[in-house]
Amino acid sequence: MNSATPQPAGAGQSVLRAERLSKAFHSADETVVVFQDVSFEIRKGEFVALVGESGAGKSTLLYLLAALDTPSSGEVYFGLRRVGSFNADESAVYRNRELGFVWQMHYLLPEFTALENIILPQLIAGCDFSAARNRAQGLLEEVGLLHAGGRRAGELSGGEQQRVALARALANGPAVLLADEPTGNLDHQTAGRVIGLLERLHRDHGLTSVLATHNLELAARTDRTLRLADGRLTETLSESASRTVSKAAPLVN
Ligand SMILES: Nc1ncnc2c1ncn2[C@@H]1O[C@H](COP(=O)(O)OP(=O)(O)O)[C@@H](O)[C@H]1O
Ligand SMILES: [Mg+2]
Repeated sequence: MNSATPQPAGAGQSVLRAERLSKAFHSADETVVVFQDVSFEIRKGEFVALVGESGAGKSTLLYLLAALDTPSSGEVYFGLRRVGSFNADESAVYRNRELGFVWQMHYLLPEFTALENIILPQLIAGCDFSAARNRAQGLLEEVGLLHAGGRRAGELSGGEQQRVALARALANGPAVLLADEPTGNLDHQTAGRVIGLLERLHRDHGLTSVLATHNLELAARTDRTLRLADGRLTETLSESASRTVSKAAPLVN
């Protein structure tokens, strides 16, 4: 994607913002500081890669954005709302309605069919069954798996499972897609197909996407790359933008 890509309506609006975010894990005999004073903003429609060595804190940062964990200090904002102020119910609604997740492992319910896996989060959100089934079928078609809707998730191939997981992530029409190493368990060719699909769904669903990845091919196709290293975050802009910003520019921390 490059600067010529048409931006969805509302582009430029802040969707996720991290303000001086720090995270440390404490145990009886040691404290692991994962990152400190990390600040960034993700705007509507952006397709952003989050990269860094294994253990750099990518998953930890995604968990904080998703209110699955709390920062040691600093704040996450979803639009104008402070995620740290959400109670348990508000956090659950935030994750169920506003966010779609894709993990390295698909986490589909293996005994349920592909279709049922996409229907379920909609029922949890209060959608009626026939509307949920119609939407699930539409999403399966979008990921090229309409024919596999009746098959049990546990019987699908790794690539198919990840495509169903993508469809499930979009079941409730989220504003934001968070993906943690979405191609990490796939062979090169299958990963390539999943990357192409992620890119298309991002565009067609007007998503704002943050993808933690080791996959350089995926990172290269995003608008911006946030890199975690040594507890700090730096940023590189992709393609056209990188001509003017020749090396990683430190973010305001
Ligand atoms: N629940 C936890 N308790 C203690 N340490 C943790 C916990 N979760 C992550 N860590 C540590 O935080 C660091 C970052 O981990 P993680 O976010 O999983 O990195 P990445 O996703 O970039 O591989 C690692 O040193 C990891 O061991
Ligand atoms: Mg991780």
